[in-house]
Amino acid sequence: MLKLTSDKFLKLIPSLFEINLNSDKSGSTIFSKLEQVIGFDEGFIYFLNPESLQLKYTYKTHSNYKINDTFKITPKLKNSIYAKDSEILSPDSEFIKVVGLSELKKKSYILAKISIKSTVFGVILLAKKEIGYYREADLEVLNAAACILSYVLKDLELSDVFKIQLKALKDGIYEKHEAYKTIKEQNEKILEADKVKNEFLANISHELRTPLNSILGFSDILGANLYGDLNRKQAEYVNDIKISATHLLGMINEVLDMSKIEARAMKIVKSTFWISRAVDEVCNIVAPLADKKHIALIKNLEADFEVFADYQKIQQILYNLVSNAIKFTPENGQVDITAAPGANCFRLVVHDTGIGIDEKYHGKIFAKFVQLDSAYTKKESSTGLGLTITKELVELHGGKISLISEVNNGSTFIVEIPQD
Ligand SMILES: Nc1ncnc2c1ncn2[C@@H]1O[C@H](COP(=O)(O)OP(=O)(O)OP(=O)(O)O)[C@@H](O)[C@H]1O
Ligand SMILES: [Mg+2]
Repeated sequence: MLKLTSDKFLKLIPSLFEINLNSDKSGSTIFSKLEQVIGFDEGFIYFLNPESLQLKYTYKTHSNYKINDTFKITPKLKNSIYAKDSEILSPDSEFIKVVGLSELKKKSYILAKISIKSTVFGVILLAKKEIGYYREADLEVLNAAACILSYVLKDLELSDVFKIQLKALKDGIYEKHEAYKTIKEQNEKILEADKVKNEFLANISHELRTPLNSILGFSDILGANLYGDLNRKQAEYVNDIKISATHLLGMINEVLDMSKIEARAMKIVKSTFWISRAVDEVCNIVAPLADKKHIALIKNLEADFEVFADYQKIQQILYNLVSNAIKFTPENGQVDITAAPGANCFRLVVHDTGIGIDEKYHGKIFAKFVQLDSAYTKKESSTGLGLTITKELVELHGGKISLISEVNNGSTFIVEIPQD
């Protein structure tokens, strides 16, 4: 039953705009103004939290319900609240159930959405003791009043929305912080595990080197016939033992070097030496390998010059590059070793006439354990660490390594070591 004259209603509209909820925390002015146009015994206003889909009981008349109680809305109620076409919420029992007002069952009630531009942010509910009290016209009036109240409540609600967003933001940051902490902890564990692995490798490699050196030493002595002549078969086997042990030692040294590099324990000790010394020594070591494949090993050292670097490491760099060049070059090929001084650096260039490397692998071959598929990599057991170590040793000197190569057209590895 509509309990107002149009005059009263027209007066109500501007008076609703005058409501100042900052000085009326209970919202009692809302209800007292509404009372002038719609009859009700109890009134409730709920704010809707779109994040948590909760209704927060915010304003009331004089009921026993606690302000700020929250009620999780059901999917059914959500559909009804967010239904675009209905301006007015049908006073459905679902709402009454959700907000725990079931004892009002015997009363009449009307609900209206509080929304701005179809964004629902609250619900206003009025209840009357008498059954069948409200008419369609009451709903229309409440809806009109709710429309004005939306703007009155907007500022407060906006600050509420702002608070919700701030909280969500804080939670997000906190969650990210937690995730970040977990990642950091896991990283530390991985680093620790890596350290243990490196220490283990360094230890085991060291333990393996000692007996291998004995095998090498004793097979040398046997091969040299110091304790009596060996027959042909015995000499052949002793030689096999020596070759295999040398090979195994090379692999263990690589693993040991790699674990040292990874543990950042690899140090360089610089001294001044003639470059020819390093080149000659490497050529002497690899000469038997080159001879076996009838590969011409050519030294290009126009003029000898002194360098300031770690002698052993420069030798190792050269050895790795030259042994690769020999390994990946078919019989009767050629390997050139060039050393040349530059303005602020010196260069070592190892060129071969071998199988070459496809451009797409130029970056990859410097990674740990990378071996390209070829008949040469299958033939011998090796670790695939040679170039990784070489690059590290070059970089420890502050230098760089580059490669020019194409399939079936040989390879050229260029090392530049700065000199200051
Ligand atoms: N001069 C070269 N010509 C063609 N391919 C090469 C050459 N040097 C290296 N490669 C390719 O790069 C891969 C990686 O080289 P790297 O020296 O790291 O390993 P490796 O020689 O196979 O084993 P290791 O040196 O540990 O005994 C090789 O397996 C090979 O496929
Ligand atoms: Mg190699």
